[in-house]
Amino acid sequence: MATIKILTAAGFVTSVLFCLVHAEICPLPCICESLGQMKGWLVDCSSKGLTEVPALPISTRKLYLQNNSLTTVRLGAFDSLSNLEEMNVSDNPWNCDCHILYLKLWLEDFSESSLANIICATPTSYERKLLSQLSGNELEGCRKSFPIKCLDFFWRDLALISLAILILILTLCALRFSKKLAY
Ligand SMILES: *[C@@H]1O[C@H](CO)[C@@H](O)[C@H](O)[C@H]1NC(C)=O
Ligand SMILES: *[C@@H]1O[C@H](CO)[C@@H](O)[C@H](O)[C@H]1NC(C)=O
Repeated sequence: MATIKILTAAGFVTSVLFCLVHAEICPLPCICESLGQMKGWLVDCSSKGLTEVPALPISTRKLYLQNNSLTTVRLGAFDSLSNLEEMNVSDNPWNCDCHILYLKLWLEDFSESSLANIICATPTSYERKLLSQLSGNELEGCRKSFPIKCLDFFWRDLALISLAILILILTLCALRFSKKLAY
């Protein structure tokens, strides 16, 4: 979880920098409408065949991304959208691997009903499953990082224990040798 937080923070900083540059520009295939007095934009990127979430105006208030070819969401892609009130991400071929965790966690905070609309397309083992029903451990790729870390600790500990035993043996030898010298 700590790595996810660090990664989210890094993603947040990157997206802030990115958005400062892209500020209020309507992303290309999308259609943007000013919401007038409410301030902010309705950004309609639905049915545009998008494979990636485009750079979005910071003052996006309503965001439509349904019916595209999105498989994942870049880390931190939505973090700067502090005015967001409504979004739709349904009807996309989501790839439910470790990278989808950002979207899952973000939607758990933002809108449980949008999360309930997310159906995995790949990998085949999760085809047609609801993202909301998959745990972090089940999302492919997440699981692998734990045993590798444990293995690192195992080798480090083994090295430390071997070193301790070696020092002990050497000390005992040295003691015996000094006793022999004393007699
Ligand atoms: C989904 O998008 C495709 C084009 O990418 C379009 O032909 C189709 O009509 C759209 N479906 C809906 C339900 O909007
Ligand atoms: C999102 O869009 C889909 C397809 O247009 C629609 O069926 C669904 O009701 C919408 N969901 C929300 C939460 O607005």
